[in-house]
Amino acid sequence: MTVRIVVGAQFGDEAKGKITDFLAADARYVVRTGGGPNAGHSIHLPEGAFVLHQLACGVLRHGVTGVSGPGMVVQPIAFEEEMRELERKGLLRGEVLVSDRAHVLLPVHEIEDAWEDELRARKRPGAGIGTTRRGIGPAYADRAGRWGLRMGDLARPSVLRERLELLYATKTHLSNLPAIDELASRLTEVAGRLAPLIRPTEPVLWEAVARGENVLLEGAQSALLDIDFGTYPFVTSSHPTSAGALVGSGIPPTEVDEVIGVAKAYSTRVGSGPFPTEDSGEMGQYLQRVGGERGATTGRPRRCGWLDLVMLRYAARLNGFTSLAITKVDVLGGLDEIPVCVQYVMPDGTTLRDVLPSQADDLDKAQPVYERLPGWPELHERAKERIRREGAHSLPSTLRRFLARIVEETGVGVEYVGFGPAREDTVRLEPTGLRGSGAGLSAWNG
Ligand code: GDP
Ligand code: IMO
Ligand code: MG
Repeated sequence: MTVRIVVGAQFGDEAKGKITDFLAADARYVVRTGGGPNAGHSIHLPEGAFVLHQLACGVLRHGVTGVSGPGMVVQPIAFEEEMRELERKGLLRGEVLVSDRAHVLLPVHEIEDAWEDELRARKRPGAGIGTTRRGIGPAYADRAGRWGLRMGDLARPSVLRERLELLYATKTHLSNLPAIDELASRLTEVAGRLAPLIRPTEPVLWEAVARGENVLLEGAQSALLDIDFGTYPFVTSSHPTSAGALVGSGIPPTEVDEVIGVAKAYSTRVGSGPFPTEDSGEMGQYLQRVGGERGATTGRPRRCGWLDLVMLRYAARLNGFTSLAITKVDVLGGLDEIPVCVQYVMPDGTTLRDVLPSQADDLDKAQPVYERLPGWPELHERAKERIRREGAHSLPSTLRRFLARIVEETGVGVEYVGFGPAREDTVRLEPTGLRGSGAGLSAWNG
C-alpha cells in the first residue's frame, strides 16, 4: 500500500499530468487536491493528446477512480463538458467522483477575476498577475470569506438559491452578472446529472487506505505559485504543496509514503512575476519552440529559462520530496552545454542557495550564478526506443551526469525521467541510482 503525492516543484506545467498518469498504472484512486480549471494537465496517448483541467488524470485508466477533491474549486458546467468529451472519445475508462465539500466556481468568479486583474494593471503598471481568468482567486476568496457554495449544495434548490442571493449581495461592484434565476436553474440541471458522482470523498479514501490500496494525490500548479510560499502576489490562491495535497484530500500526513516533486530540466512560467533564470533572448525562444511551451489552459506562450537549483532546493525543503521526476530532458538534447543556476547573488553581495527572499521585488533582483554542464546528444526516435526497451541505463552519460548534479545539489534522488510527451516516455531509475544519499552516484557519474 502506498499513498503518494505528486506536486510541481517550479512554476507549473512540469508534466505533473504525465507523471501522474504514469504512476496511476497501479493506483486505485487518483485525487486532484487543489486548483480548478486553471490547471491544464496534458497526457499523450496513442489515441491523441488530451488536456485535463478539472478531472484527475486517473480517469484515463481502467480500474482507477479519479476524485476531484475537497480542496478544489470546481466549475460544474465546464466539469461536465470535460467529462462528456472524454466519454465521447471513449477515454473515460475509470470512475469519477467529486467531493461534496469542493467549492463551486461560478460565472461571477470568472467576471471578478478579469475585473480584478484589470484593476491591478490599471492602478499600477506591472501589478497585473496575468491570471488564467478562470475565476480561481475570487472563488477561493469567497471560500475563505464563507460566502461560497459547495458542490453538495447544488442538489438542494432552496439552499442553492439562498447562497446565490447572499453571494450576489457582495458583488455589487460587478456588472453583467447572469441573472440568479437563470443561473440557479442551469446549476440545478447540471447538478441533477452530476448527482451520482457528488459525495463525501474523504471516507472513501480513508477506507481505501485502510484496505491497503494505492492512492495518488495529484497536485495542480506548483510550489512557487503557492499563496504563502510562492512569489506573492504573483501566485495562485491555493496551496499547491504536499501540505496542500493533504488538506485538499482529507488524507492525514501520517499515511503518506512518498512525495514526488516534478521539475522540468529547465524552467518555464506563465503570467507575471519574478523569474531569475528567465532567458529573454534567443535561447529562451529556442526552449519555447522545441519544448512546445504554450499554456495548456490559456494558450499563452510560456516564459522560458534555465533550471534553477535554488528554487528546487527550496521546493524540496518545503514539500519534503522523497524523490524527483525530471521531465523534458529531450528538449535540451543537442545543446553543447546546459546552464543550471546553483546560487543567487543579491544586490548587497550576499548569496542564497536554498531559501528565497519572501518579497517578489527582492527575488526580481537576484542574480543567478550558473554552472555550465556538458549537454547530451539529441534523443532521436531510435535512442528513445532504446531507453524504452532497456531502461535508464541507456540514457546518455552526460544526461546521467546532469541528473547526478541535481541529486548532489538538492539531496533528493531522481527516480523518474521524462524524455518525451508520450505515456511510454517516462523511465523509472533503479532504486540504487541517483539517490540523495549518494548511494549509486559514482556509477552514474561514470
Ligand atoms: P502539467 O500542468 O504539469 O501537467 O504540465 P502541462 O501538461 O501543462 O505541460 C507539460 C507539457 O510538456 C505538455 O505539453 C506535455 O505533453 C509535454 N511533456 C510532458 N513530458 C514531456 C517530456 O518528457 N518531453 C517533452 N518533449 N514533452 C513533455
Ligand atoms: P498546472 O496545474 C502554470 C498561474 C497563472 C498566473 C497565476 C495565477 O497546469 O501546472 P490563477 O488563474 O491561478 O489565479 O493564476 O498562476 N497558473 C499556472 N501556471 N500552470 C498552472 O497549472 C497554473 N495555474 C495557474 O498563469 O500567473
Ligand atoms: Mg499545465
